[in-house]
Amino acid sequence: MTTTETQRVADRLLRSTAARAYDPDVDIDWSAPLAPGKGYVLPHRCSLYGTSLYDQLSPEQRVELGKHEAVSVASTGIFLEAVLMRMLTREAYTGDPMSGHVQYALAELGEETRHTIMFAKMIERLGTPCYLPAPSIRRLGHLLSAIAHGPSLWGAVLIGEEVIDRLQREIVDDESIQPLVRMICRIHITEEARHVGFARAELAASVARMPRYELPFHRLALARTALILSRIMINPRVYLAVGLDPRVARRAALANPHHRETLRYGGEKLVAFLDQAGLIGHPGSYLWRRSFFVG
Ligand SMILES: [Fe+2]
Ligand SMILES: [Fe+2]
Repeated sequence: MTTTETQRVADRLLRSTAARAYDPDVDIDWSAPLAPGKGYVLPHRCSLYGTSLYDQLSPEQRVELGKHEAVSVASTGIFLEAVLMRMLTREAYTGDPMSGHVQYALAELGEETRHTIMFAKMIERLGTPCYLPAPSIRRLGHLLSAIAHGPSLWGAVLIGEEVIDRLQREIVDDESIQPLVRMICRIHITEEARHVGFARAELAASVARMPRYELPFHRLALARTALILSRIMINPRVYLAVGLDPRVARRAALANPHHRETLRYGGEKLVAFLDQAGLIGHPGSYLWRRSFFVG
């Protein structure tokens, strides 16, 4: 993909942003009551589904755990969006403000600020804790946003966006899910589709420009990012909400074939794209396998 082509993609996405963008403050009825009997995640996407710990939970506790897991994913979204916004700001700072590239990066920044507020309001509405990752992980996010460039920058953006996006697409039309959660997913999916299109185009162009000696760095940075994402999406503190020991439940979730399948499913399209771009391989293969995104 050439610079002219990425410019064309940015121009098209800017037009699409102008035609269709949401304001969650206005487009979501935050005062609507929650629907009784509806869930927050699909049961088989709960990290403990199919384990003996899950079997011991009452139906109400299963819904409650699903609620905390949905919030954990939204909290991870807030963290990832902060990292992404730092990277987009850098692009805007170093680039040409007259270019479609920088202008689209700024349009995307605007959407991400609203997404973060939307997720935070959802967490407030559901009355759970916000499950941000541990300070050590947040420091790594800071480091990533400072050192990632070219393929590792756009690849990290895709890791941050595509997994959560794929899982949201699965529930957006499902009547068994809370309408509030579905509306949030609908807004996020619509806007993320543009972000993913932008990042994929930029990634392809940056791989074509990349000096060969940088390949191991980009592969390793992306593999490490993927492994971290796989471990922070479900914060072990969610298990406290249903009286489970976080350490025991975390171990059961990581060993759970259903949970591993959820991660593989979430990462399927992303992994195929990054692999085709040559960004999955030595020295990152082992970390990708441990992330369970690679089946
Ligand atoms: Fe977002
Ligand atoms: Fe995004």
